[in-house]
Amino acid sequence: MNAGARLAAVAARSDDPLLQPFTLKHLTLRNRVFSSSHEPAYSEDGMPKDRYRLYHVEKAKGGIGMTMTAGSAVVAEDSPPAFGNLHAYDDAIVPWIRRMTDEVHEHGAACMIQLTHLGRRTGWDQDDWLPVLAPSPLREPAHRAQPKEAEDWDIDRIVGKYADAAERMRAGGMDGIEIEAYGHLLDQFWSPLTNRRTDEYGGSLENRLRFALRVLGAIRKRTGPDFVVGIRMAIDETVAGGIDAAAGLEILARLEADGLIDFVNVIRGYIANDPALVHVIPIHGMPAAPHLDFAGLVRDSTELAVLHASKVDDVATARHAIREGKVDLVGMTRAHLADPHIVRKIIAGQEAQIRPCVGATYCLDRIYEAGEALCIHNAATSRETTMPHVVATAPIARRVVVVGAGPGGLEAARVAGERGHAVTVLEAMPWAGGQIRLAARNPRRRDLMGIVEWRVAELDRLHVDVRYDVIAEGRDITALDPDVVIVATGAQPHIPELEVGADRVVTSWDVLGGDVTPVGDVLLFDDNGTHSAMSAAEMIARSGARLEIVTPERMLGIEVGGMNHVPYARAFNETDTRITLNQRVLAVRPEPNRDRGRLCVEIGSDDSLHRSVRHVDTVVVDCGAAAQDALYRELKPLSSNLGAVDVGALLGGRAQSLVKNPDGRFQLFRIGDAIANRNIHAAVYDALRLLKDV
Ligand SMILES: Cc1cc2nc3c(=O)[nH]c(=O)nc-3n(C[C@H](O)[C@H](O)[C@H](O)COP(=O)(O)O)c2cc1C
Ligand code: SF4
Repeated sequence: MNAGARLAAVAARSDDPLLQPFTLKHLTLRNRVFSSSHEPAYSEDGMPKDRYRLYHVEKAKGGIGMTMTAGSAVVAEDSPPAFGNLHAYDDAIVPWIRRMTDEVHEHGAACMIQLTHLGRRTGWDQDDWLPVLAPSPLREPAHRAQPKEAEDWDIDRIVGKYADAAERMRAGGMDGIEIEAYGHLLDQFWSPLTNRRTDEYGGSLENRLRFALRVLGAIRKRTGPDFVVGIRMAIDETVAGGIDAAAGLEILARLEADGLIDFVNVIRGYIANDPALVHVIPIHGMPAAPHLDFAGLVRDSTELAVLHASKVDDVATARHAIREGKVDLVGMTRAHLADPHIVRKIIAGQEAQIRPCVGATYCLDRIYEAGEALCIHNAATSRETTMPHVVATAPIARRVVVVGAGPGGLEAARVAGERGHAVTVLEAMPWAGGQIRLAARNPRRRDLMGIVEWRVAELDRLHVDVRYDVIAEGRDITALDPDVVIVATGAQPHIPELEVGADRVVTSWDVLGGDVTPVGDVLLFDDNGTHSAMSAAEMIARSGARLEIVTPERMLGIEVGGMNHVPYARAFNETDTRITLNQRVLAVRPEPNRDRGRLCVEIGSDDSLHRSVRHVDTVVVDCGAAAQDALYRELKPLSSNLGAVDVGALLGGRAQSLVKNPDGRFQLFRIGDAIANRNIHAAVYDALRLLKDV
């Protein structure tokens, strides 16, 4: 019996509610866990090629019951892809879909896809540059496109396009489809917030439902009564003037009574702007499973299968959702980005080894900021062609010393431990975590510590020798007689070069770490644009100090994505924080005469000689961080590779074998911020990519 069959046999005997099969029409799912549709923007030319496919196949290998692919695959050319959406309108997609469904099925999971027309929720300047359309010419704040009012011939065409796309998906072997109806064209028609029409598609609920009924009717007609069709809809938009729960349930009952759908995937909320979206897809610092009870109420009112996903990121909550009958299938979507092997680990009794989703929502923010979803602390996700989720044992066990127990060092030690090496970690502080520990001092971001805590537990399981309070010098390393040394010593805050007064400033790290608690008037100079400045600013603003943030950028927190920006903006709005863009701090001087201890700050822009003056008690700066690389430089001449990396081998997935100093006693590499200040993902990717081949 192979490993998969063994796990299936164990699952079949289990009384775990999550592991019970579920039947939806002809389809039997092996368990109750699914990944809801989410567009990771891995498409190439609008097609789900290798990267896209392997991302979903990995979840199937990891035991998931069903993976719902795409996020809003678009059914028509005039629904320009806002975030790398698949082109469901193109016949060329069918073989790609077929390959994906075949491989997902091979590993025992069901596979569905979400279809949509985005309506006004997109931009006009993508793909074919077709004008965006909507029921009424009302802009969506998040995407800003000014839509045209859909004409009768648009409506007729798009109804047909939905049916065509559904047929393509059936031909590609999909087990079913889900129609997106929250914030997209379908529900833009039925929500009074977005439909001001006076023709037969506007006004009464009957009229506003006409488009959806035509679309779903055409899909049913084309795909037949046996094909599974569901809807993901906002049962309650939670916005005045929108669809409330009573109206949402009425719409659902109508779709059910007409036999148009087989399941409902419950959404509660509104997504037309980021502050609203963050309640539909809650980030860290927000309550877990906020809409689960509401989904349970929907389940009480319908015979349809009920699905739901919203911050169910741990197994205990998922189990509760099924055991208490809140839903039929529980979505753990970001949780599977963090660990695609959740169900396999549950079955194997390894729940504690599940890599936690910490709600950082780097994944979602990146589809807009950088065009691809990446998990903040799983560098293998979406890189399945090159990066393993399960690290293989090395042919030869070696002695590996890792210096530094920040995210990069911990990941290096974890991967080396999985390889079967004898690993020692030396950490200067009495604890692990590095900059994550600082970031998590903001109580709202406490969950980030999951990145550290999971790795510390894994190191324990892997018998890695972790030594705290060791300020490692060269001789400490050589005394361990290592074969490989990984320097992950991180960075220290960079102090800007000012005309005068650089010695009078404190850093955002001082604030986050609690070494400085600014009071009175505080000016925070952010010349970095990342979380460290925003988070320190949030803490200062919330502490009651009067804060001004000055940045030379054209927007605040330029490296922080839309979802993560929401709570920062809320803090600044609620505290009347002053925000000054396009300017930088030039000089900091003590106040003359009175006001002892106060500071006089000159600020100015990069393109004007004009200067302004601020009078404050504290100046906080965040100008990035400089690598702490003294140990690396000390060890370099003792190493066989003199610290050099064979980049071709690194990218090609081959072991490092450069020898530049035959007398060298070990290979030496540095990773993460010890090379250059970046982020958590960069540090863990450095570590995984290098150590998987050591
Ligand atoms: C990167 C990303 C893209 C998403 N895109 C879509 C989408 O296109 N359609 C959709 O219905 N939901 C989308 N979602 C929302 C997810 O399906 C899910 O509802 C959300 O992540 C909350 O569930 P979770 O807490 O289990 O992750 C997206 C989520 C993420 C993280
Ligand atoms: S980036 Fe954060 S929210 Fe997204 S999957 Fe990873 S841990 Fe979860």
